[in-house]
Amino acid sequence: GSSLRKPPILFLPIFLYSTHPLSCFLSSTVPAVLCPFTQLFPVTSSPHGDEDIAYHIKEEVACNLPQNTCVCLADKETFQMPFSNLLFPHVWAHKIDHAFLESHPDPEGVKRHRAQEYSSFQRRSYSPADELIVAQANNPLQYPTQGVEVRPLKTIIIPGLGLEEEKRPKHTVYLTATLGTFDVAATVDNVSVSGEGEKHMILLSPYLSALNRQLQFVTYTNTVFHPKTADTVKFATKDHQSFFTIKVGHGTIPRLYNTGYQREYNISALVTIATKTFLRYDKLKDLIDSIRQYYPTITIVIADDNEHPLPVTGPHIEHYIMPFGKGWFAGRNLAVSQVTTKYVLWVDDDFIFTANTKLEKMVDILEKTTLDLVGGAVREVTGYTATFRHIISVEEGGEEGDCLHIRHGYHHVIEGFPDCVVVDAVINFFMGRTDKVQQVGFNPRLARQAHLEFFIDALGSLHIGSCSDVIISHASKIKLPWSKTDAQKAYDKFRYSPSSADNNIHNEVFYFKNRFKCMTSH
Ligand SMILES: *[C@@H]1O[C@H](CO)[C@@H](O)[C@H](O)[C@H]1NC(C)=O
Ligand SMILES: *[C@@H]1O[C@H](CO)[C@@H](O)[C@H](O)[C@H]1NC(C)=O
Repeated sequence: GSSLRKPPILFLPIFLYSTHPLSCFLSSTVPAVLCPFTQLFPVTSSPHGDEDIAYHIKEEVACNLPQNTCVCLADKETFQMPFSNLLFPHVWAHKIDHAFLESHPDPEGVKRHRAQEYSSFQRRSYSPADELIVAQANNPLQYPTQGVEVRPLKTIIIPGLGLEEEKRPKHTVYLTATLGTFDVAATVDNVSVSGEGEKHMILLSPYLSALNRQLQFVTYTNTVFHPKTADTVKFATKDHQSFFTIKVGHGTIPRLYNTGYQREYNISALVTIATKTFLRYDKLKDLIDSIRQYYPTITIVIADDNEHPLPVTGPHIEHYIMPFGKGWFAGRNLAVSQVTTKYVLWVDDDFIFTANTKLEKMVDILEKTTLDLVGGAVREVTGYTATFRHIISVEEGGEEGDCLHIRHGYHHVIEGFPDCVVVDAVINFFMGRTDKVQQVGFNPRLARQAHLEFFIDALGSLHIGSCSDVIISHASKIKLPWSKTDAQKAYDKFRYSPSSADNNIHNEVFYFKNRFKCMTSH
């Protein structure tokens, strides 16, 4: 290439006529505005007054930069010989968007819906620690302190590199990496570059401005495969050094639920009710009848580990029969694993829906906030209503293990939802994002008396709320943990279980799986 001063226009010929075999997958159908090299312009405004310095694109490096403009291209059909596919495996391409949208009655609607779901997914998965931050050149090195990320074995421009120092005969910087190599996507006159394609690269120039211009084109290529790691890069002059990390990893693949366009929440399309039954078919029938009064078409998934299972039939009911006595968490796991809607509502088999069991309210808070799970309230036969709100924390405890602390309480009220608070654990009447609940899972070894264990596993990955204005009734007179006296609770919470073997499993799970040495609770 020749020296380029107005890149956006002048880049085009290079690429459209490129003979490079990969030539960035650019074809004449790709509009010019998608031309890759908007990337090449400094991400940060440069304090060095070097914008006018010319540079020359180095195609073989520049073409490997991510463009956010992937194109669905198959290998060209070439010659056909027997076994040619074995010798030269042929890449096929399937245009998923065309295939799906073509036969969809409302393609624009479904596109819009996917975009909405994706933006709320991004809002939930956003972390300020991923933002690009550049330490300005006052030490005298300028470099990105965080927010630089590369896909495994791919190439990026390192944004924000710069040098600010007194005039001297030669300005030199050194770059060193361990899991990848450096190169330049364009060269600048009067700058000498050595170590291109290696883990150690040196840039040197008599002109500071030329060196700074060159630094804007430094690339990093990850060469050691690891699906999720980071490379610590050293960026130095003779007298100063700085370090920053480049995250190496795949992007998060979203898991979005296509719930169709809805003017108002369609609970049957959004929510599945999951429950586990054991020895209480009469109660289960009452639960199903009560659900049908308010939500006639919602799907109900039932996990059943009775010794002599009875049929449970009806529209929108899925009854899964498990081996006898598999237990409480195995049942929750199975039921939740079969849910295909965006949200899953957990209920016990002896709960009863009433006019106060407004699932719309739970959906509303999950749709409008970054919460992953929200609990409601359970009204006892006595009229006592419980929300069973807890906060959980883990304190480091050295070699013997850590300490788990469980307390009644909540962190804060949720803005816009005066009846709802943020907590770490809720009662066993809750609605959660199906994929998040599935990710945490229910440890199937916990057969009886398990509940808080799920929330301990969820600590740090689920964002949990509790709302006192969504109320379900409890049909049984059997005392549940939250209606017992404190003395009973203390005895029951983690010690009581029908057998000492079960007791031991709890201790082992806490001790070994979670590496706790101690648990404290109210
Ligand atoms: C840099 O290099 C170019 C081309 O090699 C040369 O014409 C120019 O005089 C040099 N100096 C500066 C300050 O650009
Ligand atoms: C609600 O969703 C269900 C299940 O997807 C569907 O059968 C029903 O037609 C939807 N109702 C409305 C009013 O869209």
